Amino acid sequence: TRLAVFASGTGSNYDAIIEASQNGSLEAEVALLVCDKPQAKVVEKAKQNGTPAFVFDPKQYRNKAMFEAKIVEVLQEEKIDYIILAGYMRLIGETLLRPFEGRIINIHPSLLPAFPGLDAIGQAFDAGVKVAGVTVHYVDEGMDTGTIISQEAVKIEEDMTREDLQRAVQTVEHSLYPETIQKLISRGE
Ligand code: GRF
Repeated sequence: TRLAVFASGTGSNYDAIIEASQNGSLEAEVALLVCDKPQAKVVEKAKQNGTPAFVFDPKQYRNKAMFEAKIVEVLQEEKIDYIILAGYMRLIGETLLRPFEGRIINIHPSLLPAFPGLDAIGQAFDAGVKVAGVTVHYVDEGMDTGTIISQEAVKIEEDMTREDLQRAVQTVEHSLYPETIQKLISRGE
């Protein structure tokens, strides 16, 4: 099974997926990194790991349909089975969604449908909820609205800072994401 990981940032989830793929707990290969930020740390990581990468600058394209058409071309060339969004900070448009519908998944740092969108951890912290968490879901045209695949709660303790919560949520992400992808693959979904 060939995965394309889409990331724009640090790539700690990319790391976790690579690690799971290497230790055999995830029976899939990260065959491609797609990144819309040439300066992102994850690009450097992909280079070190030897992950083929399609790195582009959206400003070089007329519009989203144009760069998504190019992405689809690369995904088809690389025979990609699943698109794994891991901190790719853009909504997926119909050009990319249509050919890969049902095969694009995302991870979001909240218990959806609570706190969609940007800075979900900050939103949860400010709301004073006692339970935060992580959701893995299928991607549709909305913002964090697709069908939920898996979730895991993270308790917010009295003395936790925002940074503590961030760390706890990320730790959960790094196990939940590879596990969930493996389940999908083994069920052939
Ligand atoms: C993660 O918290 C993920 O839930 C969100 O973006 C963040 C990406 O972090 N969608 P990283 O680049 O994988 O470290």
